[in-house]
Amino acid sequence: MKEKNSQSAVVSEASSSETRPSSTVEDVQRHWQGVVKRRSFLKGLGMAGATLSAGALLATEGRAQTSGSKGRLSAGDVALLKFAAWAEVVEADLWTQYAELGAVDGGNPAYILALQNLDGDMPQYIRDNTDDALSHAAFINAYLISKGEEPVDLDAFRTLQGSQATGAKDIARITNLLDLNVDLTWYTRYRSGQNPDLGAHFKGPFTIKNQPAIPLNDTDTPPNQPQPVPPATPQEARMQAIANTAGFHFAFIEQGGASLYPTLALKASEEEVLRILISIGGVEIDHFGLWHDKSGNAVSQPLAGVVDPETGLTFPDLNNPPTELTQTNKILPEPCSFLSKSLPACSVIRPTLTQNGGAVATVKAFTADGLFKGQSDAFFKLAMKLAVAADSVKRGL
Ligand SMILES: [Fe+2]
Repeated sequence: MKEKNSQSAVVSEASSSETRPSSTVEDVQRHWQGVVKRRSFLKGLGMAGATLSAGALLATEGRAQTSGSKGRLSAGDVALLKFAAWAEVVEADLWTQYAELGAVDGGNPAYILALQNLDGDMPQYIRDNTDDALSHAAFINAYLISKGEEPVDLDAFRTLQGSQATGAKDIARITNLLDLNVDLTWYTRYRSGQNPDLGAHFKGPFTIKNQPAIPLNDTDTPPNQPQPVPPATPQEARMQAIANTAGFHFAFIEQGGASLYPTLALKASEEEVLRILISIGGVEIDHFGLWHDKSGNAVSQPLAGVVDPETGLTFPDLNNPPTELTQTNKILPEPCSFLSKSLPACSVIRPTLTQNGGAVATVKAFTADGLFKGQSDAFFKLAMKLAVAADSVKRGL
């Protein structure tokens, strides 16, 4: 298991030479050698001490590196990375809210206990998924800057009120986790032999509508209450329903990433951009597999049957009766139709067509989820501008 304890450690790790792509490290070394050679040449001409400092030389080198045709990315690759950066900044914002309350270093004991009723390691997994999202956002933006492009900055949209419960920081947020409609069609989709890219439609096994995924405040859910299984009081049931919703929301978010990255990767031109998209995309898939498993524990014994006393949301027992499309331990993707119904079924990530799993589809799915409830028109305009640009990219080799 990986050990990650603080987000600052991860952010600095993402910018250390150890974790940079080797080609970037090589580029830096090559440029530095070029600078040294040129300085020797200028010294030989008797100019070095007069007007040129090493800093000025490096600045010149930096400009040469980013403005030459070799160092620049195509407009298409920039659009793909900018949308990925947007998605990761959004993801980092929502995961940070979960981590403040429910991670291993989180601050709401009752929420942590309720999450641990899904799996004792939930707080560690939340910490690690949060650090992964922060590292993805920091890396992609740093890569864009290294190529002379603008990073994606959503700080102007940190305007939403988050949780007021013990543990949550009193800061404005980009995303809203207080009133979610969690699309559960992924649960059925990955158990089915049909594929949305070949026209299939799915229904989730139950419905999560207008439900918080983090505690609202300490009156609604006291932070130091016990969380027995099954819950004994209305407030314990409320907190358990909130934690169960979070479990399903984690899987919803990450299955979105699992489809988005292959969809973006299919359009990449530069090999290094393709490498970034498939390498980060693989981690989204890893996250999805984990959360798929954990969320099933909310709808199997002994936890199944929790009812939220405020919203009436009920978590059924999906193993009673066990069926192909509901049984909770069927978490690995079922082989499905892929490319053509005349070919044999194949176990794949789905969807991966732009219209079903691309950038616009991602913005629409996150919006329908309620994740951006309260956001400004400018937020949605920017999101759709970046998404349309990414979806319009054609692979050019
Ligand atoms: Fe991510």
